[in-house]
Amino acid sequence: MPNDSPAQNLTVESWGDPSILVTQFPDTEDFHGRLIETVLRLEQDRNLTQHFDGYVGESKVYHVERWDCPAARLIDERAKALFKSALKKDDAVVDLSWASVYRAGSYCLPHSHFRSAASLVYFLDLGDENAGGRFLFADPRLKICCKHEPGRMTSPVGPEPRPGILMMFPSQCVHMVTPYQGSRPRITMSWNIDDKALPGDPLSS
Ligand SMILES: [Fe+2]
Repeated sequence: MPNDSPAQNLTVESWGDPSILVTQFPDTEDFHGRLIETVLRLEQDRNLTQHFDGYVGESKVYHVERWDCPAARLIDERAKALFKSALKKDDAVVDLSWASVYRAGSYCLPHSHFRSAASLVYFLDLGDENAGGRFLFADPRLKICCKHEPGRMTSPVGPEPRPGILMMFPSQCVHMVTPYQGSRPRITMSWNIDDKALPGDPLSS
């Protein structure tokens, strides 16, 4: 396992809009294998996982902080560190975190996240090449999605996906995942983060 501090030496750049930030982790070979194994193992745990028959991915493995996995803790800490450093906040409170597993036929319709200021997605395993499963923003408030006229969303766009990319965006930004048709599971991790805790359970909201 890498033993660096969570945010050390990370180069953070905006992508497409000043509010969308991207960083690429250089040390993915050190922990991706164990992290993928952990997600696929915990996908069988009924206490952590919910199945969706493909319409928001095939399944979500919730509560990254409960996984008892050093690699998961590392990514969890890096997500919180990016939130604090980029938004200049003293605290990073995770309202909900999860891994999404996509298999052939899985997709996710356009949606926003709620109960948080920022959402983060980490590309853990993109699955098979040229098999879809692209993360795209589709929001008329983002200029990059409105190539023809301001305020008219005609161009869903997203960064070129690579394993090890962590991306942060305002939680209200509408985004989607195109249908995935590969055979190897496509796995991402997500966080909804604010600088203060909210009452209630996000999974029952
Ligand atoms: Fe989402």
